[in-house]
Amino acid sequence: MSARIAPSALSADLGRLREQLAQIEEGGAEWVHVDVMDGCFVPNLTFGAPLIRALKKLTNLPLDVHLMVVQPEKYIDEFADAGSAVFTFHPEATTHVQRQLVRVRERGMHAGLALNPGSPLSLVEEVVEDLDLLLVMSVNPGFGGQRYIPSTTPKIRRVRSLLDSRQSGAILEVDGGITVETIRLAWEAGACTFVAGTSVFGEKDPAGAVARLKAACATAV
Ligand code: DX5
Ligand code: ZN
Repeated sequence: MSARIAPSALSADLGRLREQLAQIEEGGAEWVHVDVMDGCFVPNLTFGAPLIRALKKLTNLPLDVHLMVVQPEKYIDEFADAGSAVFTFHPEATTHVQRQLVRVRERGMHAGLALNPGSPLSLVEEVVEDLDLLLVMSVNPGFGGQRYIPSTTPKIRRVRSLLDSRQSGAILEVDGGITVETIRLAWEAGACTFVAGTSVFGEKDPAGAVARLKAACATAV
């Protein structure tokens, strides 16, 4: 199994989006990560469904949509219609988590939950069977360019054990401060999918940056 890389559009040059997408595809990226922020759940405001529709015209890579919004249930239909492949929301932002996960799957998207650094695994234990993806935040959500929080590595190990103990095929994704150094830690702890913003689109050669991140896992233990 090789590491799956999902570069984050939040760090891309939106004025050169077609070119930037072609570069990450050339580097072997498998997904495009899209950070949707509402200025309420997190102190930043980014994109809505119109960007998903635009990305669908520019790339065939699956769109891995990460909603950092309150009441994410309000957006399930709109993001499904726009072409999202993965719809990941925060259990800290809604009341009826299990109902929303079922709804996301009914709309044909992969259902994901994202855990803030300060949030315990107990928030997801009752709904593991309803999950296609579990995203472990390695930074507090809201901005790109932050540093990986070291306590994330043992948390990834615990998530790995939880998923394995429940025979879950859910994807374990890590998001925030991923570099060629920190990706090794997260990969060795049991993650398989990695969001990378600054370490890809902040580089002169995004294609090479994606390849280096993948190589860092391939040469890890
Ligand atoms: C932060 C977002 C991340 C961020 C990653 O709230 O969820 O996806 O864009 O960017 P880097 O890789 O620069 O930390
Ligand atoms: Zn994200």
